[in-house]
Amino acid sequence: MMSVIASAPAKVILFGEHFVVYGEPAIVTAIDRRAYATVEKRSDKRLYLRSANLSLSGYFDNGNFKVEQGDFREAIIKFEPIRLAVEKVMEKCGEKAGLNIEINSAVPVAAGLGSSAAVVAAVTKAVGALLNLELSKEEVFRITFQSEKIVHGSPSGIDPAISTFGGTLLFQMDTGFKPLEVKADIPLVIGYTGVERSTRTQVEKVRDIRDKYPYVIEPMMHAARELVLRAVDALKDNDLETLGELMNINHALLYGLGVSDESLEWLISAARKAGALGAKLTGAGGGGCMIALTRSEEIEKVVEAIQRAGGRPFIARKTEEGVKVEAA
Ligand code: MEV
Repeated sequence: MMSVIASAPAKVILFGEHFVVYGEPAIVTAIDRRAYATVEKRSDKRLYLRSANLSLSGYFDNGNFKVEQGDFREAIIKFEPIRLAVEKVMEKCGEKAGLNIEINSAVPVAAGLGSSAAVVAAVTKAVGALLNLELSKEEVFRITFQSEKIVHGSPSGIDPAISTFGGTLLFQMDTGFKPLEVKADIPLVIGYTGVERSTRTQVEKVRDIRDKYPYVIEPMMHAARELVLRAVDALKDNDLETLGELMNINHALLYGLGVSDESLEWLISAARKAGALGAKLTGAGGGGCMIALTRSEEIEKVVEAIQRAGGRPFIARKTEEGVKVEAA
């Protein structure tokens, strides 16, 4: 086998980010923006990595990293989780091969859309296939989650789960996740603020505020749980108005935790004014992306409003397709 290409989807969290880290449920959906990994064997033992979108490249040789293009620190932060995942796959198949890995991603990075998990899931699947190891989705999930822990500190596992399995999931840390059947299209506009931020920092911020005001934050956790349960029913009934209202309440809770910022507030308020049924930040916040639930008739108006408010809007469709081999 010469080379393998695999891909995995990005995601949006519809309800429950941050609260999910404390065991509350969340609803997440895979979207039609994917990360692609192309892998091939090398004749030496190096692990060579290149990200076209980030203009970064470099290689690991005997545990040492050498950057070829871009900033050393940035490259090691982006590539270390990939190296870890590759190592785990090689441990599983008992073969230590040198590899070239090329990443192409249509997912903005550090934006709350799960780009790092999508990249690692795609690489894991591709390397497995190249080394003749048919990894199950559970195995891809486990490997991606282990590597994600390095990047995010104490992640819930929601990003690796959705990038691996696709579809729409009701996710909870202790009880696992189950697919939600969503028949109708959920018309979503995503607005990227252009502000990159670290999930780890945002998660730590919430931990601090929770430690400081436990009796204030605890009822917010209950409220978040309740609104996810209501949202599950609204999704089943395709009740977009209720979903929109619940999104607005969810955003208010996230704002209360301190994870919104000015760039998000501009876009959220512009989307609501233009007729969105509901809008909220998605992912870790502090910049990154917001989502607006919008009736099809209003979509263009909301897109324009987000653009005028300084954001980069795009329309997202949900996808059932999780991680997969594209070509071998
Ligand atoms: C990140 O996409 C979502 C957070 O809830 C962190 C996590 O669940 O790991 C902020």
